[in-house]
Amino acid sequence: MGAVGRKMALVAVAMAALLLAEPSAEAAIMCAVLQLRLIPCVDFLTTAGGSPTDACCRGVRWLYGATKDSLTDRIAACSCIKSVSASIAGELNASNVEALPGLCDVHLSYSIGPSTDCSSIQ
Ligand SMILES: *[C@@H]1O[C@H](CO)[C@@H](O)[C@H](O)[C@H]1NC(C)=O
Repeated sequence: MGAVGRKMALVAVAMAALLLAEPSAEAAIMCAVLQLRLIPCVDFLTTAGGSPTDACCRGVRWLYGATKDSLTDRIAACSCIKSVSASIAGELNASNVEALPGLCDVHLSYSIGPSTDCSSIQ
C-alpha cells in the first residue's frame, strides 16, 4: 500500500468510527478527530530518516493539549492511537515513532505506537 493508500485507509477508519459512534460517543469522536490530526504524521512514521512536517507536529501538539489535563482522556487517546497504529504496525519505523513527540517539542507521557501499554499511563 502506498502513502496515499495508507492515508485513505486511516480516513476510512476515522469515518467508520464516527458513523459507528456508540455507547461512548465522545471517546469515539475524539478518536476519529485524533486520527485525522495525525494522518500528516504517517509519512514520517513509516519511512527512514526525514523529519515530521509542520502539519504533523500541529497534530501532535493538539493531542498533547487535548489530553494534558485528564488522565481519562490520555488513556482514551492512547487506546485510540494503539488501535489505529496497529493497522499500519508492520510499516512503522520504531525509532521514528519514538522520536516524534520530541521532534515536535512535545513531552507526551506515552509513546505513539502499537506497543504502548495504555494501562501504565499517568
Ligand atoms: C528507521 O529510521 C531510522 C532513522 O530515522 C533509520 O536509521 C532506520 O534504518 C529505519 N528503520 C527501518 C526498519 O527502516
